[in-house]
Amino acid sequence: MNITKRRFLQTVGSIGGVGAVYRSMQALGMTGIGTASASQLSLPSGSGNGRSVVILGAGISGLVAAYELSKAGYDCTILEATERAGGRNLTVRGGDLLEESDSRQNVQFGSRPDLYANMGPARIPYHHRTILAYCKEFGVELEVFTNDNRAALFHNRERFNGKAVASRQVNTDMRGYIAELLAKAIDRNALDSEFTSEDKERILAMLEKYGDLDDNRQYKGSSRGGFKRQQINAGLKSGELNSPLAFDELLQSDFWIYKLHFDQFLNQNPTLFQPVGGMDAIVNAFNERVGTLIQYRSIVKEIRKSADGVRIVVQQPVMNGQTVVVNADFAICTIPAPVLVDIPNDFFKDYLGAIKSLEFVPAVKIAYQTSRRFWEEDQAIYGGISWTDQDITQIWYPPYGYHRENGILMGAYIWGKEPGLRFSEMTPQERLQAAINQGEQIHSGYANEIATGVSRAWLKVPFQKGGWAYSNEIRETLQKPDGPIYFAGDQASALPGWQEGAVLAAHAAVQGISERVMSA
Ligand code: ALA
Repeated sequence: MNITKRRFLQTVGSIGGVGAVYRSMQALGMTGIGTASASQLSLPSGSGNGRSVVILGAGISGLVAAYELSKAGYDCTILEATERAGGRNLTVRGGDLLEESDSRQNVQFGSRPDLYANMGPARIPYHHRTILAYCKEFGVELEVFTNDNRAALFHNRERFNGKAVASRQVNTDMRGYIAELLAKAIDRNALDSEFTSEDKERILAMLEKYGDLDDNRQYKGSSRGGFKRQQINAGLKSGELNSPLAFDELLQSDFWIYKLHFDQFLNQNPTLFQPVGGMDAIVNAFNERVGTLIQYRSIVKEIRKSADGVRIVVQQPVMNGQTVVVNADFAICTIPAPVLVDIPNDFFKDYLGAIKSLEFVPAVKIAYQTSRRFWEEDQAIYGGISWTDQDITQIWYPPYGYHRENGILMGAYIWGKEPGLRFSEMTPQERLQAAINQGEQIHSGYANEIATGVSRAWLKVPFQKGGWAYSNEIRETLQKPDGPIYFAGDQASALPGWQEGAVLAAHAAVQGISERVMSA
């Protein structure tokens, strides 16, 4: 295939939405800063004796702060607006009730321990060392989370007759064509000024291997991309190689914008982990240690500075909905910005500006219990993620419970703004149906495989009002205390949407309080 430069540029230019996609990449932390570095805290024992801290929110950040501060002798109170700890770390199981501002869903999954869905965080990269250190300390058992799977599918409505194609083919063919093009350019001496003739030979030899080129350095397909029909591998007979996917169709698809190299982004880089049995194993481990410090159904109504600390006005059911006042030397506020913005407070105006500037992702997840593991049985897909240009964006196959009778499939994971808003607006029933219709385009017969489902539109979740902050631009203001008030939560880190960000922000707040107390 001859692709001229002009045609290549035309093709690239014709892919709509490259710019629009950028924001959605940014939303998953794929565009730059945000690497975690291991941070271990060790406050001197007893250094917090006689000091009090009120922590707003029992999500991961609040739990970490309470755990570290109380170990050092601080008197901690956690005010949590809902009836459960964990915040966005939410694992759902049969019998759970999920509430949004205008709907309630009863989860009807079966009772087997692997029939759960992580509706919030679901993967922990290997370099998120601080949250992993807590998993190790608390004995939270981990297993590998499969982010990338060559048997999973790429689907673009406008390409390949709207049929999903296997990742092994997309990856192999794209690589083959690129190797061929580069080999041609070198053969035609286009890169002579860049390389010595020895280097040229080496690069050509490398490209042959890299792209599995033939003796004429052309890409004509490769066993790496699999064999024709359902068998994937050759089997007993020698088999017939898949015909390579057309290069121009690959170029005109949206695959290469970021989906094809998704696993190259640092935060999506293997190895990733998940706790065995559900992400809330982390919450449970903290709960065992600091659960008694949590006051549930305590809605923060005002955040005030007082002469000697903070004064938090809280509405509590134990007081028949009357407000009570909690005084403390310091506060750590983990309340998400879209909620915090409406709570009367004494924040200095720079902090208000920073809080208002945090726009949150209208993330949506939809999980189905299926009647059989059709992805394994029919297509040998074991874990991993399929991609589509439809609103559902992704389908996740469970990286656990292999070969069981049935399983839980994540039928949609949406983080783009427009599709997120579209799905957030739907009723839970409409979401389930819309995602089934879209899934049908990827897996024919999908609708018949679904037994029951549940969705979570984080924008509509009371006391959350969004998935996580879009931008990973560091909100430096939120990393400094406003008098006695410290800010935490992933929103105050360069890792929004990651538990590691929540932990690091909690550590920074705790460290700040400790240094202040010790130097007083
Ligand atoms: N941490 C979130 C994810 O990986 C944003 O999808």
